[in-house]
Amino acid sequence: MILIDGKKAAAELREELKQEVLQLKAKHNKVPGLTVILIGDMAPSQIYVRNKEKSANEVGLKSEVIKYPEAVEEKTVLDKIEELNKDENISGILVQLPLPKHIDKQKVIETILPEKDVDGFHPMNVGNLSSGYESSVPCTPLGCYLMIKKIEPNLSGKKAVMIGRSNLNGKPMAQLLLKENCTVTITHSKTKDLKAECLEADIIVAAVGIPELVKADWVKKDAIVIDVGINKTEKGIVGDVAFDEVSKVAKALTPVPGGVGPMTIACLLKNTIECFKRSQK
Ligand code: GUN
Repeated sequence: MILIDGKKAAAELREELKQEVLQLKAKHNKVPGLTVILIGDMAPSQIYVRNKEKSANEVGLKSEVIKYPEAVEEKTVLDKIEELNKDENISGILVQLPLPKHIDKQKVIETILPEKDVDGFHPMNVGNLSSGYESSVPCTPLGCYLMIKKIEPNLSGKKAVMIGRSNLNGKPMAQLLLKENCTVTITHSKTKDLKAECLEADIIVAAVGIPELVKADWVKKDAIVIDVGINKTEKGIVGDVAFDEVSKVAKALTPVPGGVGPMTIACLLKNTIECFKRSQK
């Protein structure tokens, strides 16, 4: 079994990006800038944002975090986004989710210029991805995709099953694998026989938030299994895949933690650099 080391893959990607930033700096005399907006004081969001900032600095990007209290008015946030949209030094804008209830998530997403939408959540980017045009691609599925491609460069004709249909993961992941000529099935809570669907799969991407849902007898021998889940349980943090048993049948599997998470952040940096490059064209 190949244990997919997301930490190592992310470190390698960051090293490549660092070199790219140096080249961009030499060519354009400036570096890509990323601004992250963080609202409220939810612990997981604080940790993610801190890691994003640390990684951005490591590869030489200019990064800034703007923090607002939980009670901030929606207009304050939208006005700040408009200001960042106009700022030539900012290549990428990310508003950390989830947002407080009084702030309209979709309004926030649609206020960010598609050209600066490093999350790939703007409908313009969603549409471009599904049409097969150039776009920002959401960071988590992009990270999963890069790890899958490293294990299996030719995905043509493979059967891929997404567990979960979210805009963050399931849907964009399906688009990426469809582009690679996979036969893609998107499953969800109303799917009749999830186990039977999974047993058909050469590639399983689990992103539903149900601890250890995917069992060994759901997985075809030599399947690639990517675990996007992060679930707090009495045992500690576990994924959506029963790691110990599935590791006995799968060809390759991501651990939780240390799998998808580090790659997500590295892909955010990659997206920021891509936005910068497109803006310089
Ligand atoms: N919260 C959890 N994951 C993400 C992500 O990929 N992007 C943003 N903006 N917020 C998140």
